[in-house]
Amino acid sequence: MRTDKGTTDVGAGALAERSSAQLKVLERNLSARYHQIQAAGLSLDLTRGKPCPKQLDLSAELDGFLSGDYKTLDGQDCRNYGGLSGIPEAKSLGAELMQVPAENVLAGGNSSLTLMFQSLQFAMQKGLWGTDSAWQYESSTEHNGAKIKFLCPVPGYDRHFAICESLGIEMINIPFTEQSSSSGPDMQKIYSLVAQDPLIKGIWCVPKFSNPTGCTYSDDAVEKLANLPIHAGRNFLVMWDNAYSVHSVMQDEPLTSIFDAASKAGTRPNILTFSSTSKITFAGSGVGFMGAEESVLNNFLSHLQFQTIGYDKVNQLRNARFLKNNLQQHMAKHAKLIKPKFTAVQEALSSGLSEDDIARWTHPNGGYFVSLDVTPGLAKRVVKMAAEAGVVLTPAGATYPYGVDPSDHNIRIAPTYPSLEEVESAMEILILCVRLTSVQQILTSSP
Ligand SMILES: Cc1ncc(COP(=O)(O)O)c(C=O)c1O
Repeated sequence: MRTDKGTTDVGAGALAERSSAQLKVLERNLSARYHQIQAAGLSLDLTRGKPCPKQLDLSAELDGFLSGDYKTLDGQDCRNYGGLSGIPEAKSLGAELMQVPAENVLAGGNSSLTLMFQSLQFAMQKGLWGTDSAWQYESSTEHNGAKIKFLCPVPGYDRHFAICESLGIEMINIPFTEQSSSSGPDMQKIYSLVAQDPLIKGIWCVPKFSNPTGCTYSDDAVEKLANLPIHAGRNFLVMWDNAYSVHSVMQDEPLTSIFDAASKAGTRPNILTFSSTSKITFAGSGVGFMGAEESVLNNFLSHLQFQTIGYDKVNQLRNARFLKNNLQQHMAKHAKLIKPKFTAVQEALSSGLSEDDIARWTHPNGGYFVSLDVTPGLAKRVVKMAAEAGVVLTPAGATYPYGVDPSDHNIRIAPTYPSLEEVESAMEILILCVRLTSVQQILTSSP
């Protein structure tokens, strides 16, 4: 299905500069096309960042890969209980993904998100740095029960925000900056906020091919974040979720190791790193990792021991053996499969929206998403209209804390799961909805 570009008037310049007569004609044409598509009863899904079946097939060898050899390098039988911090093979893989030494790695179960939740819960209730460091005591005794706060670069990952919400941590939006010398969250704003408020206890970071902007933090931003705990109040934590560390699609982007930067700054105990093989092998059956300074890791393990005797070491071993000396080649196969979908998204946005000058979008070199900013006030309407025409998008607002995008302008596009044809069709409908709502907005706001 292709939209007839002729009837929708691409090529007549920025929408805002057109006469109301021109806009009314355009609205009629776009509406007619929208109703035509609606009648087709499509069902397309651009919501969650999941690998497509062909990407999962790349790891099909995992099934049976161990061929009965369950012994680890240090002689453990993976089928048995024990080994809470993970097997050496998996720790080496986690070390590579998170840019930390293997002795600082915890290899866990199938989800890094679980480790993020547990570590924040531990920091809140028991204290990552010893019993008197629990955030809950600081909040209740020194600040009359005022809430602990976290800085959240936006747009960001909805599940990070959901963790904070469920633990009663207040969230503060931080915009991204994109200057020639620095990319990442607005460090000036961050430094000024932490200087004023000791209840700001941490920050979420997805430092490489960020969800959803695709931004990779510059050296300067990494260094400033590594130094942040020195300037913030007590017990500050940087949650460094490197979920897309090896997920280049167009080209790789180097990222400085925060652990190295923190070693120089003397802040290693204040950094927790995370990653997983979820988008490398099987999303539902991978291995999650956490990286931490030795004493922090030991404190966390002492908490974890009440929850499990040990993780699924058989799964750790098969993932680690499968990816040993194979990680880069394996990720290149992923890139080959999803690159055409990312290219299709860029081509559709560029040919469908550039001239109208009604939207901005990111051009990520890797990761799982493209972030689209429409005119403020329109994102919810676009998402609703697209749904009514058969395209499900991530709910507008989901990329912000509390599900509230103050400008109602951000839409996350996740092109990996649908087929290329489905991505193309879905993008045409999305673009049609962006154009139609934009024309309607200009018409209703003009005298
Ligand atoms: C930034 C980020 N972190 C973590 C996850 C989930 O990781 P896991 O499957 O290891 O829990 C995702 C999944 O979309 C993500 O985008």
